[in-house]
Amino acid sequence: MSRDRDVGAFDRRASTYDDGPLGRWHQEIVSGVASIARSARPSPARTLDVGCGTGALLSELGGFRTGIDAAPAMVRRAAARLGPGVPVLPGYAECLPFRAGAFDLVVSSMSFDHWADQGRGLAECARVLAPGGVLVLADVCAAWLWPATLGGRARTRKKLGHLLAAAGLAARSWHRLGPFVSVVEAG
Ligand SMILES: C[S@@+](CC[C@H](N)C(=O)[O-])C[C@H]1O[C@@H](n2cnc3c(N)ncnc32)[C@H](O)[C@@H]1O
Repeated sequence: MSRDRDVGAFDRRASTYDDGPLGRWHQEIVSGVASIARSARPSPARTLDVGCGTGALLSELGGFRTGIDAAPAMVRRAAARLGPGVPVLPGYAECLPFRAGAFDLVVSSMSFDHWADQGRGLAECARVLAPGGVLVLADVCAAWLWPATLGGRARTRKKLGHLLAAAGLAARSWHRLGPFVSVVEAG
């Protein structure tokens, strides 16, 4: 399995990732995802952000938080932003270095589409969720994007729902953030 889809590009972009219109768009999505996550799992004891980038989403959440990202430069940016109380680790969604059931909330914003093995990444998210825990996942996903699924990416709710089910997770509710982005709560 290749685990480096797009990661080199994110590593190079880390210092400017939050800048400009694209950075502002990502920040808007992050704020929407944070709001959904706070409702889906109020006051979680332990939260993991998979593909945390520069740490924007974790900065809007509370409790014990951990981030993981495949791009080392993103990890450094997130660690600097979040401070020593929030561990940020280098690593891949497809091979999470955490024990089973370690988190009661797993979040991920705009990273899933870049995972080389989306099914395996979701299975890892399911593995590290405690019983009753919730996954809140946001990414490019809309019915009109179905042609993009021909390349193998899960960019429709139907396809993402199938992958979630294969990982042992059930989609409980869906939200839309603009025309491109869906957020799913699953557990
Ligand atoms: C579009 S950025 C989103 C960053 C952040 N979540 C946000 O919303 O601002 C995608 C991030 O996912 C990371 N990434 C890509 N593939 C990954 C993988 N397989 N496992 C973990 N992180 C990955 C990239 O390094 C990048 O930081």
